[in-house]
Amino acid sequence: EFHSHLSERVRPYLDLIDNLRLMGIDDDLTLPAIAVIGDQSSGKSSVLEALSGVALPRGSGIVTRCPLMLKLRKQLGAPQWKAIISYRDKTKEFTDPSLVEDYVRDAQDELAGSGVGICEELISLEIMSPDVCDLTLIDLPGIARVPVKGQPEDIGDQIKRLILSFIEKSETIILVVVPCNVDIATTEALKMAQEVDPEGKRTLAILTKPDLVDRGTEKNVLDIVNNRVIPLSKGYIVVKCRGQQQIQDRIPLDEATKMERDFFKQHKHFRCLLNEERATTQCLATKLSQDLIEHIKKVLPALSEQVKTELCESRRFLSECTEGPPPEPVDKKAYLIEILTLFTGKISYLTTGEVVNEEN
Ligand code: GDP
Ligand code: NA
Ligand code: MG
Repeated sequence: EFHSHLSERVRPYLDLIDNLRLMGIDDDLTLPAIAVIGDQSSGKSSVLEALSGVALPRGSGIVTRCPLMLKLRKQLGAPQWKAIISYRDKTKEFTDPSLVEDYVRDAQDELAGSGVGICEELISLEIMSPDVCDLTLIDLPGIARVPVKGQPEDIGDQIKRLILSFIEKSETIILVVVPCNVDIATTEALKMAQEVDPEGKRTLAILTKPDLVDRGTEKNVLDIVNNRVIPLSKGYIVVKCRGQQQIQDRIPLDEATKMERDFFKQHKHFRCLLNEERATTQCLATKLSQDLIEHIKKVLPALSEQVKTELCESRRFLSECTEGPPPEPVDKKAYLIEILTLFTGKISYLTTGEVVNEEN
């Protein structure tokens, strides 16, 4: 139910942005996307899955082999879940959520081959449903240290380049996923985030697998969360996602959300994180929605300028159209053609952004 709570607050801003986009506002003023980065099997896809309510391919080894842009769009009136997957020149629409995993796998196999290679081409998965939150999330291949059989020697660099191309954009919110049971100081993803975002304005660290922390090391995790090890201005959030066993037992996502809360409530050391708003996927979702709203507020002045420019341009165009035809019949015909050409050009520009050759 937290997905709907999130939407109530973000929706008006998103509607505004969507409407402006329909009016022809530039694409580079799009919503910030949230990119998830981390080592292989750190839990990236699991976090995305918990945030989106959409089951994604995941497991051990390299599962995510192409960037996957997950566009979640809440559609209140819509009775039904609907998705559109697109990559290269392909587009497929479907209404059965259980097909997501297979379709994403098929797309990856087609783009990156059926082996263990990666590919820079983007798979876009747009999901429209009354139950999702309005977020754009990007799942990326995990950072691999050593190539496995069949992978090129420079696979590590390839993956890092791919990740960089997403996180260097200033409108991308970076979620760095680190398991609670690994040494955070050696985490490559965190280093990469710090390189592109030295002040940590758009980096949030997610600590996963709190259920796998070794006994006696809980205090180390709390030290990290309390910003005493590697301080981050947005800080840390601990989440517990479905483990392999829970997936095998087919524990549904909403059930897993309840179990997550219970896990923290009952945990001797991590209980305190609930009150500090440093634990659970729900807390993460709320924080992300706040970030989105802040970002949109920041881009609004620029949008406003752009709207003014468009308005000015439209007024000028309108005045050209309303000057009226010349008195001679022959000129009237030429005038009509001229106006129609101008008009179709304008319409085409507004809908596709392409300028139509005025001689056509
Ligand atoms: P990715 O490679 O970073 O996308 O990682 P995945 O999301 O595929 O997760 C890797 C494995 O860790 C999967 O088997 C998940 O079920 C498991 N996993 C993820 N989060 C947790 C967690 O909080 N607790 C436990 N026990 N397992 C988790
Ligand atoms: Na994985
Ligand atoms: Mg993954």
